[in-house]
Amino acid sequence: MDWNVLLLLMLSATFGISSSDLQQFYYVNERKSWLEAQSYCRATYIDLATVGSMEDMNRLKAAVDPAYTGAVWIGLKRYWVLSTGENISAYNNWVPGQPNEGNVEAACGVYSSQGWNDSYCSTKFYFVCFDGRASATDTFILLSSNMTWTQAQTYCSQHYTNLASIHNAQEQQQVLNVVGNNTSAWFGLISGQWSDKGFSPFRYWANGQAPESTSTEKCAAMMMSNSGKWTQSQCDLQNPFVCYGGLKFARIYYFIRDSKTWTEAQTYCRKRFTDLATVDSVKEVSRLLKAVDVGYSGSLWIGLTKAGQHWGWSRGDELLSNFSNWDAGRPNGNGQCVFTVDGVWRDYDCTVALYFVCYYEGTGYILVETSKNWYDAQSYCRTTYTDLASIRSPWEQKQVTDLVVKGVSVWVGLFLDTWQWSDQWSLSFRNWASGQPSSGTGSCSAVVMGDSGKWTADNCNWQYPFICYIEEDRVKKKQTVKVTVSSNGKTDLNDPFVKAALLNEIEKQLKRQGMANNTKLSWRPKNNTKVFTLKPKKVTD
Ligand SMILES: *[C@@H]1O[C@H](CO)[C@@H](O)[C@H](O)[C@H]1NC(C)=O
Ligand SMILES: *[C@@H]1O[C@H](CO)[C@@H](O)[C@H](O)[C@H]1NC(C)=O
Ligand SMILES: *[C@@H]1O[C@H](CO)[C@@H](O)[C@H](O)[C@H]1NC(C)=O
Ligand SMILES: *[C@@H]1O[C@H](CO)[C@@H](O)[C@H](O)[C@H]1NC(C)=O
Ligand SMILES: *[C@@H]1O[C@H](CO)[C@@H](O)[C@H](O)[C@H]1NC(C)=O
Ligand SMILES: *[C@@H]1O[C@H](CO)[C@@H](O)[C@H](O)[C@H]1NC(C)=O
Ligand SMILES: *[C@@H]1O[C@H](CO)[C@@H](O)[C@H](O)[C@H]1NC(C)=O
Ligand SMILES: *[C@@H]1O[C@H](CO)[C@@H](O)[C@H](O)[C@H]1NC(C)=O
Repeated sequence: MDWNVLLLLMLSATFGISSSDLQQFYYVNERKSWLEAQSYCRATYIDLATVGSMEDMNRLKAAVDPAYTGAVWIGLKRYWVLSTGENISAYNNWVPGQPNEGNVEAACGVYSSQGWNDSYCSTKFYFVCFDGRASATDTFILLSSNMTWTQAQTYCSQHYTNLASIHNAQEQQQVLNVVGNNTSAWFGLISGQWSDKGFSPFRYWANGQAPESTSTEKCAAMMMSNSGKWTQSQCDLQNPFVCYGGLKFARIYYFIRDSKTWTEAQTYCRKRFTDLATVDSVKEVSRLLKAVDVGYSGSLWIGLTKAGQHWGWSRGDELLSNFSNWDAGRPNGNGQCVFTVDGVWRDYDCTVALYFVCYYEGTGYILVETSKNWYDAQSYCRTTYTDLASIRSPWEQKQVTDLVVKGVSVWVGLFLDTWQWSDQWSLSFRNWASGQPSSGTGSCSAVVMGDSGKWTADNCNWQYPFICYIEEDRVKKKQTVKVTVSSNGKTDLNDPFVKAALLNEIEKQLKRQGMANNTKLSWRPKNNTKVFTLKPKKVTD
């Protein structure tokens, strides 16, 4: 069946599947106890909602019926766990009377020779890391530097393996050997177990939580009347809840080989697809590149043009309007990049070299004590970690401020963005090549295949091939793709067996390119009868 080969070649040249890695949250408007809610989520989706960041938190809030003002279960339950996610049912060494958990904030574990104690996670202590690498000379390392629990966790996962977990009396003794009799130190113990057994130290407790008795089981609920802040509740109360499930949506990129000006390309994409390509993360950059013909090494139009100006985050994860923290009188036109000092923001000349704060997915903020200009700092953070830091809440501002010595200015990911996506997508992820966009080069942006997909600002009248996209809500929507198949004339493509075989091949090919496993393909008959209709062959040459 040689048409099979033909079809696959065509697919590999024109399909690129892209998806945002976000978990989708599903609000279930039925009142259940926490345990019943957990069972429901596990049966219907994946699990009760896990929250890893303020971004997740905002999406979670947005999933709830806006008219509802009560409590909503999320997947967090009061239970002491190790920072590996394991629970401590097998071994513990609490000081008698501890943990007393007088307050939800007193939820991190401190080690001392007398035993384990609970303390406010924002207190600063020395800490013990665990080094699990084969090359390690010491398994447990005491770091004589005062940090909060989360900072210590970040530090250990960056430089070693993790904060120290203690599973038995032998490890307890090993840790004692490095900590000594007279020091208290953080180790990898935190209160709060996520239903899916994942590890996330992110917490969003409401202030002024009344002391809770430890005798009853407690589960976390969002209080919709208090900006979604969390409260500890009795697990057998009946509340609506939020589950999480699969991928939210995908941008599917299409490479169009015809060279056109930027405006012509935009018109073409809007007519046949959603729009010229929008790219909003490092992951999407690489997915877009996969959609391009292997042999092509020139430039390609994407949907970004010069227009207006707004402050945006390098990570492209939030609009500035949702939280801002400018110093009095700022921004005042001092520059197009932003540093933070002593908890406020100031605009400043991007070419000045300063220390900077990166963000690393999974561990959090990292202070880099090397002076670089803003652009080089951005490249460094993207190469070494995830991106320059975004600050989207007072809580995140405090995390960053706590990392930096008073009076020291550090670049964060905020910059004055003078570009805009064709589809009006408002977030500010940009992937400029070094030195771009410089004044006078042009007002439309192109991806340069030769420069690992970095972007340049080019003259909009130049003619390049381009990338269009379709944004697909994978959970709810269907998408129809038309395929043309060349046949040798002897095969009846409408034979049910042939149709099934063909679909099977397409499915395999798409899965190899990252299509979600739960996507279902089916043929759609054109006339309620036949899937394939004959088309006369165009004679070229
Ligand atoms: C940011 O604010 C805008 C406008 O208020 C809102 O539409 C959007 O959902 C917010 N984003 C998040 C992540 O909360
Ligand atoms: C703790 O872990 C053990 C063993 O994996 C398991 O049997 C137990 O149910 C867990 N307890 C909780 C509260 O998760
Ligand atoms: C445990 O912590 C409490 C306060 O959180 C403190 O009063 C007590 O002395 C600590 N116990 C030990 C043995 O460190
Ligand atoms: C850490 O904090 C303790 C108590 O606040 C203090 O005594 C100690 O000197 C600090 N150590 C360092 C290295 O800053
Ligand atoms: C800790 O104190 C005990 C006695 O209280 C002593 O035997 C031990 O040597 C001390 N350990 C260290 C590391 O100082
Ligand atoms: C630990 O503290 C005790 C008194 O509380 C003191 O006698 C001892 O010398 C201290 N040990 C170290 C190693 O500092
Ligand atoms: C699909 O499922 C297979 C095995 O069931 C797994 O190896 C693969 O990673 C999954 N692919 C995606 C994109 O989820
Ligand atoms: C669709 O069906 C109608 C009659 O049902 C027929 O006239 C028409 O030619 C068909 N079109 C195609 C493309 O098969």
